[in-house]
Amino acid sequence: MYFPETRLRRLRYNPVLRDMVSETRVTHNDLVMPLFAIHGTKVKNPIKSMPGNFQLSVDMLVEEVKSLRDVGVRSILLFGIPEHKDETGACATHDDAIVQRAVIAIKKAVPEMHVIADICNCEYTSHGHCGTIVNGDVDNDLTLETLAAQAVSFARVGVDMVAPSDMMDGRVARIRQALDENKFTNMPIMAYSAKYASAFYGPFRDAAESAPKFGNRQTYQMNPDNSNEAMREIDFDIAEGADIIMVKPAMSYLDIIRRAKDTFNIPIAAYNVSGEFSMVKAAAANGWIDETRIMKEILTSIKRAGADIILTYFAKDMAIELNKR
Ligand code: PBG
Repeated sequence: MYFPETRLRRLRYNPVLRDMVSETRVTHNDLVMPLFAIHGTKVKNPIKSMPGNFQLSVDMLVEEVKSLRDVGVRSILLFGIPEHKDETGACATHDDAIVQRAVIAIKKAVPEMHVIADICNCEYTSHGHCGTIVNGDVDNDLTLETLAAQAVSFARVGVDMVAPSDMMDGRVARIRQALDENKFTNMPIMAYSAKYASAFYGPFRDAAESAPKFGNRQTYQMNPDNSNEAMREIDFDIAEGADIIMVKPAMSYLDIIRRAKDTFNIPIAAYNVSGEFSMVKAAAANGWIDETRIMKEILTSIKRAGADIILTYFAKDMAIELNKR
């Protein structure tokens, strides 16, 4: 029966009932907070385009991780800004590199925090590309070796999961092989599988000091026009051994998240990236939107689209919000 016998508004009058029939709920378990590690002590450099986010020296990072734990954030994603960059990103493959140092300190102070390390070269190369440059372009197969070396080093210092974000072909297989050869057979890989060449990464590149010095990332990151290709990327990554696949960015790619959810039987992560965060902050600072409601609506939409895990700079704010209920 339809209207007037049935009225859909009946289930909307009582707030308890509204919650009872709610189909989607973001929880603390879904959230991952990205953080930026930098050399030095007592360093807390504000990232201008990402209010509330900082480049943090290891001592300050540990304090931030404690406060994240205290509000119920259970997982973080680490990026590093090295002291000296080099041609290939080799500076990130040593156990005393910046992210590795951060991991060791965090695991000592807050062992229960789930620590994910982003694997990529763009923060570590002098040219800002995600791999080794040969004849003006990123050489795929050479780059796999630095990525694998990074992964093994992260595993050695005690990360809980690695997350390759470089978009080289074959990197999940190469990283899996390297981890297994070094007896890290239980180390999960969360692959940035459908990662688009997006303008939404702008603020992140300020934060990580990783903007390419020439050209762009269109020869390795995906064309935003494509959806079928995303399914191929995900299919390849699963075949190569990915344990979790990721869609990135999130808000303009909710269709990709939903399609991946319907197509594949694997946990799906979505990265609510820097530009998506900064737009909300900027509009809120102008008094144009209600930041808290917008944050909840965005994160709920990403979960409703099919994401099991949401990487977001709102993780702390959302955890605090969830604690109020
Ligand atoms: C590294 C990497 C990037 C992001 C995550 N890992 C930047 C890029 O590809 O240029 C972006 C995250 C964000 O915008 O929040 N390759």
